[in-house]
Amino acid sequence: MRSSFKPLALAGLLALCSAAQAGDKVWISLGDAALAQLQKVTAVTPGASATPTAALAGASASTAGRRAESIHLVQVDEAALLQLSAAVHQELKRCGGFMFHASQAEGLASLQRHAGTAKLAAVAALTRPSYVIDQQAVVTPLLNQMQASNIGQTITDLSAYVNRYYQTAGGVNSSDWLKQRWTTLAAGRADITVEQFTHASWKQKSVIATIKGTDNASEVVVLGAHLDSINQAGTTEATRAPGADDDASGVASITEVLRTMVAGGYKPRRTIKFMAYAAEEVGLRGSQEIATSYANAGVNVVGVMQLDMTNYKGSVNDIYIYTDYTDSAQNTFVTNLIQTYLPTLKVGTDKCGYGCSDHASWTAKGYYASLPFEAAFNQDNPYIHTANDTFANSGNQADHSLKFARLALAYAVELGSDGAGGGGVPDKTETFTGSLTLNQTRSFGPFKAGVGSFKASTTGTGDIDLYARRTTVPTTTTYDCKSDGATSAESCSINLTANGDVYVLLKGYKAGSYSLTVTYRPQ
Ligand code: BES
Ligand code: ZN
Repeated sequence: MRSSFKPLALAGLLALCSAAQAGDKVWISLGDAALAQLQKVTAVTPGASATPTAALAGASASTAGRRAESIHLVQVDEAALLQLSAAVHQELKRCGGFMFHASQAEGLASLQRHAGTAKLAAVAALTRPSYVIDQQAVVTPLLNQMQASNIGQTITDLSAYVNRYYQTAGGVNSSDWLKQRWTTLAAGRADITVEQFTHASWKQKSVIATIKGTDNASEVVVLGAHLDSINQAGTTEATRAPGADDDASGVASITEVLRTMVAGGYKPRRTIKFMAYAAEEVGLRGSQEIATSYANAGVNVVGVMQLDMTNYKGSVNDIYIYTDYTDSAQNTFVTNLIQTYLPTLKVGTDKCGYGCSDHASWTAKGYYASLPFEAAFNQDNPYIHTANDTFANSGNQADHSLKFARLALAYAVELGSDGAGGGGVPDKTETFTGSLTLNQTRSFGPFKAGVGSFKASTTGTGDIDLYARRTTVPTTTTYDCKSDGATSAESCSINLTANGDVYVLLKGYKAGSYSLTVTYRPQ
């Protein structure tokens, strides 16, 4: 169970998970155990229920060796959520366990997905991306540029706000500060925009930075963390809630990814979005609104990585991949990324047992999400949700966070560098036509080719020979590949292990006309 749980701090726990205002009715879904607690504190009968199918059980509240819980949709007074939170903490020794829904229809749609009987339009159209790891030439130099000190500075800056609670001035101002910080980092890049996502029901805005993909921009990769903080003992303007680990560490980690990508001039083919969510601590509300709006708009989010708590090393392994409310195929990819790029790190797995962070909002909409976490569940930072969740209590350095920042960069570049149709396929094609007289030569390029196969081929009349070469224009005696058969049907290719310029030369061995096709992976 959560080591930060203190049975006596009940008044504080009331505010911990929901902190709602009385009066309004809201729709929530929750599992059997949480429903039993709710029924103790208020008379509710589920309006609808669903049992997850076997295929979906891994993304439900089930735990190994136990029957999957049913999930129930109920309408309650927002105030009853405070009592539910308290009861869940008191009786089940955990937090969360329920999800907000904007309406009954939205709640029902969510239940149906749990039962495996319905799919969102966005889910039906969802691309399962290639998980081939083939961007070493890009990733490795970027990883070497990443620094713990930058992450530590961002943690220090964010935890300097009295709190970042979703309804306080600190919550609002920290959002404005982060927007400014990301905007400054992105200076000089016309392909990067930084915006705030306004939420109708509370003051704090989420912050979203977008690097627009060069040629596959409709496919989106999301790196997320939550901006807000909470103190379980109170939620006034003056209540100290530094949230250094939970979750300034996650925001700082993805900020270092953004800084490194800009410093390295990295331009993804897919769109990469950095999201700092508002109002996570009060029921994943910010991420839920964002994931809902993306799903409603049919946005093709191909993968989500959530970083929530990255700087407290509480366990023997370095990174724990959480297996519930996440996608197992993407989790395997994430594990492979660690083996490839961070081979000295030790990896474990664990579960929250409930939708404990914003990844669950994306999972609920059918998207593929992962949560690499700082420790085993019962060995996490004991200071979270208190005034003592400070940088000092994570050792005044961000070495642990740096591992997660590096993993997030590798993840975003490996997914972000794929064109339509996945990775590994050379898919920029250019065609040139013309004619050559006897012994006449003509050069083409430079082609800005990325790691992978560069291929040039010709068809035509007469007898035209083909040469290709990295860095400089080839001659008929210096080239990386040539094709000089007795017709104009030629083809040769170069396997590029680093990004670079490639040039092509055609020569009329006999006069003729040609159609030259060049195919390569853009940088
Ligand atoms: N960072 C925590 C989640 C967490 C805590 C994961 C400890 C693993 C170990 C997150 O900010 C949080 O507090 N989540 C709530 C639930 C949410 C639905 C309000 C929680 O776990 O109490
Ligand atoms: Zn928290």
